[in-house]
Amino acid sequence: MNRRSFLSTLGGLAAWGGLAVSDPPLFGTATVRPRLDEMHTKAIPSSGEEIPVIGLGTYITFNVGTNTRLRNNCADIMEAFFERGGGMIDSSPMYGSSEEVIGYGLDRLDSAESLFSATKIWTRRSSQGPVQIDDSLDLWRIREIDLMQVHNLLNWQDHLETIREYKDEGIIRYSGVTTSHGRRHRELEQIMQNESVDFIQLTYNVLDRQAENRLLPLAKDRGIAVIANRPFRRKQLFHQFGNDPLPDWVSEIDVENWAQFFLKFIVSNPAITCAIPATSQLEHLHENMGALYGKMPDEEQRRRMAEYVESL
Ligand SMILES: NC(=O)c1ccc[n+]([C@@H]2O[C@H](COP(=O)([O-])OP(=O)(O)OC[C@H]3O[C@@H](n4cnc5c(N)ncnc54)[C@H](OP(=O)(O)O)[C@@H]3O)[C@@H](O)[C@H]2O)c1
Repeated sequence: MNRRSFLSTLGGLAAWGGLAVSDPPLFGTATVRPRLDEMHTKAIPSSGEEIPVIGLGTYITFNVGTNTRLRNNCADIMEAFFERGGGMIDSSPMYGSSEEVIGYGLDRLDSAESLFSATKIWTRRSSQGPVQIDDSLDLWRIREIDLMQVHNLLNWQDHLETIREYKDEGIIRYSGVTTSHGRRHRELEQIMQNESVDFIQLTYNVLDRQAENRLLPLAKDRGIAVIANRPFRRKQLFHQFGNDPLPDWVSEIDVENWAQFFLKFIVSNPAITCAIPATSQLEHLHENMGALYGKMPDEEQRRRMAEYVESL
């Protein structure tokens, strides 16, 4: 059984509401190897396929060009990401050399069976949609793409049509659209109401919670998976709160650091399927992947998390 089919069978084990903390702890240190059957996964509503709730973004962090040392650092990040149970890697033609660097990393790894590839079409020109899809396949060095999204809703009508054609051919498995701007939420809502998409991607974190009003309930209603981008508001959440103490009750939700606090707040929202933090540092990757394990906050604990941050 490969890791993808293994994950698909995890539904019952990873039933929402949080899994019991294992003994010894699975989170926090690089040296403790996780038990992959105890990580948190969520189902993609349109298929039921389970994916890990923590993914990996690549904006800026993987745009390292041809520098071998920096490329190898990205490959090390990917290796640790998969070892700690990661699945989704998100990229875009907008992110410079990131897609090529992902391909370099995948080539260097012995195995990346749990990869859930997510990239984007980012162009106004309809005719460039298929060109960018083919480029992504080449750059990532893969034969199928799990999720193809229309970046920032740019020319989404034509690009969604192209993505559907590739889906019919079996080259793309899921479709999606993305934004990171609140001002585009109205348009995103209309797409969610009127189009058939498997995923949306938007900004959601402990400070940016606009999506809670309409988009997240709508995603639940319409059976659309939700990816949370900018989970750390780029680095701002660490600058703003990183020097403050964590509340003493975080041990109740198996949080050891601010990164896990921010990420568990996001992925414990029932409408969110996964979050995609980006990092260029192995130490940060391990902190972030800790959020894949241990107890998750319930509704009351999520409320306390938000109130605590507001009080700082
Ligand atoms: N419209 C769109 O489609 C769209 C828009 C925005 C983002 N995205 C996607 O979402 C991903 C995530 O968003 P983002 O990259 O803008 O921002 P982000 O993930 O919120 O923040 C990334 C920053 O956080 C820092 N960081 C990561 N882990 C940390 C830790 N444990 N402790 C301290 N600092 C940490 C990283 O610095 P270090 O390198 O030092 O760790 C990096 O500077 C993107 O990479 C991209 O894939 C998509």
